[in-house]
Amino acid sequence: MAGPSPRWTNVALVVSAVGFLTFEFAIVSPKAQTGTSAPALAPAVSVVSAAKDPGPRGGDAGAGGPVEGLSGPELEYFYNSLDEFSDTEEVSLGLGPRMNLDSCKGCHVQPAVGGTSPALNPQVVFATQDNASDSVPAFLTSNGPAREARFVRNADGTPDGGVHAIFTISGRPGADGCTLRQPDFDAEMGRHNVIFRIPTPTFGAGLIENIPDSAIIANASSDAAAKGALGIRGRANFQVSGRTITGQTNNNGNDGTISRFGWKAQNKSLLLFSGEAYNVEMGISSELFQTEREEMGKCQFAKVPNTVTNMAAATPFEALSAIEKFAIFMRFLAPPTASATTPGGAPSIGNGKQLFGAIGCALCHTPGLQTGDSTVAALRDKPVNLFSDLLVHDMGVGLADGVSQGEAGPREFRTAPLWGLGQRLFFLHDGRASDLIAAIRAHRSTASEGNGVVGNFNQLSEGQKQDLLNFLRSL
Ligand code: HEC
Ligand code: HEC
Repeated sequence: MAGPSPRWTNVALVVSAVGFLTFEFAIVSPKAQTGTSAPALAPAVSVVSAAKDPGPRGGDAGAGGPVEGLSGPELEYFYNSLDEFSDTEEVSLGLGPRMNLDSCKGCHVQPAVGGTSPALNPQVVFATQDNASDSVPAFLTSNGPAREARFVRNADGTPDGGVHAIFTISGRPGADGCTLRQPDFDAEMGRHNVIFRIPTPTFGAGLIENIPDSAIIANASSDAAAKGALGIRGRANFQVSGRTITGQTNNNGNDGTISRFGWKAQNKSLLLFSGEAYNVEMGISSELFQTEREEMGKCQFAKVPNTVTNMAAATPFEALSAIEKFAIFMRFLAPPTASATTPGGAPSIGNGKQLFGAIGCALCHTPGLQTGDSTVAALRDKPVNLFSDLLVHDMGVGLADGVSQGEAGPREFRTAPLWGLGQRLFFLHDGRASDLIAAIRAHRSTASEGNGVVGNFNQLSEGQKQDLLNFLRSL
C-alpha cells in the first residue's frame, strides 16, 4: 500500500439514469459494464437491517508514542518535547492577552497527547477558571468539540477569515489592570458571520511533512479513468469544478511548494503550525510570530516575543524555543495503529476496505503515500497510510465555510486523513458530526466533488455499509 497508486483503489462506475441535481452515479453490476474493469463489489459480511456507526473504538489508544526507529537522542528530544506540548501556560509567561486555551494538549489529547478534541471540552471550564469571568459562547458546550472561531467578513464586508480568540486574561492571575472584552460572538452569529474549526490530530505528522511534492502530484493524476468515470475528465479544476474528483494542491505563496497541514492544507510545516498555534490559540509570540495579536498596553506582562532561543542554555535541547519543541514532538509522533479485528471482525473489516476502494472513497482518501529522503532515518522512505491525497477538493455548498486560505477557496477542504478515525469523537472541519454516516452524507451537496461517491455509498446494502463503517472504525 506504500506506492502512490494502490491498485485496489481502481474502480469502475458508470452514470445512472437517475438524476441527483444534474448528475448522479450508480453502481452497476459487473455484467452490465462494457469496456471497464469490473467493480467487484464484495457481498456483505455483516448481517444487519440498518447499518450504524459502531462508535469510537475502545481499548488502548493506538497512538501517542514515538515513531519506530528513532535514535537514542531523538527519543530523548521526543519525550522532553512531549512535556512542553503538555505544559499549561500562564500570563507571566506570555499567555494571552487573548487566547482560546492555555495548552496545546488541552485541544490535542484524544485518544492520546497530540490527538484531537477530548470528550469534555476544556474551554468551558477555562472560561471562568482562576477568577476569570469570560462568558462561554453558544458554540462551545461541555460535551461538544473544542473549537476556534473565524469570522467570514469584516464589518465593511471585505473578507476576514481570521481566528478571533474567544477568551481574555482579564481577571486571571498576573493580569492585574487588564480589562478586555470578548468579541461579540452573539452579534456575529446573528449575522451568520462565524465559522468553526476543530483540532486535527497530529499523529504521524512527521511522515506527512516528509512526503515529497512529486508523490502528491503523481497521486493526483493517478486513477484518472476511475475519477473520470465518476464525473468529468480534466484535473486542473478549481472553484467551478463540482463534477469531478480531481482536487488540487494548496501551494505555498512564496516558494510554490505544496502546503499540507490544517483543514484547508493551509500550512507548510509543523514548525510554522507550532508558531501560529502558539500565537493564535494561546496568544504567545515567538521568533516566527514576533508581535502580539493584542497589543493593548495594560495587558502586556511578558517580554516580546514571549518565547525565544535560549542562548545561555546548558544543553542543546534547553536552547530550543518552545515552538521548535512542539514541532519535534509532533514530527516524531507515530502514526495511529489500526485494529485488524475491531470492530466487527477481520472479514468485515477486510470487506469494508475493499468497498472503500470500490465505491470511490479511496479516490480522495488515498490509502497510502510514501515519504522521501529525510535527515531522520525513521522518517525516510516510509509508507504513510494516511487515507488522504493531501489535495483540497470542492466539497460543495453544504460544507462551504466561505473562507479562503492560500489557494484553497471557500468551498474547498483538504481530504481529511482518516488514520486514527476509529478513536476520534468529532468529525468534519467544524465538528458538526459525531456519527460516521452523518459525516459521509455531509459530503453530498450542490456542486460537491463527493456527490457521485455518496450516491454509490447510498446504494450499498445495509450489510455492505456496515462492513465499510467497521473498516473506518478499525483505523
Ligand atoms: C483551542 C484549541 C487549540 C489549541 C490550544 C491548539 N490547537 Fe492545534 N489545532 C486546533 C484547530 C482548531 C486546528 C485546525 C485549524 C485549521 O485548520 O483551521 C488545529 C490544528 C493543528 C495542527 C495541524 C495538524 C494537521 O495535520 O492538520 C497542528 C500541527 C497543531 N494544531 C499544533 C498545535 C500546537 C503545537 C499547539 C500549542 C502551541 C496547538 N496546536 C494548540 C486547535 C487548537
Ligand atoms: C471528493 C473527495 C472525497 C471523497 C470522494 C470522499 N471524501 Fe471523505 N472527506 C473529504 C474531505 C475534503 C473531507 C473534509 C471535509 C470537511 O471537513 O469539511 C472529508 C472528510 C471525511 C470524514 C471525516 C473525517 C474527520 O476527521 O472529520 C470521513 C469519515 C470521510 N471523509 C469518509 C469518507 C468515506 C467513507 C467516503 C466514501 C463513501 C469519502 N469520505 C469520500 C473528501 C472526500
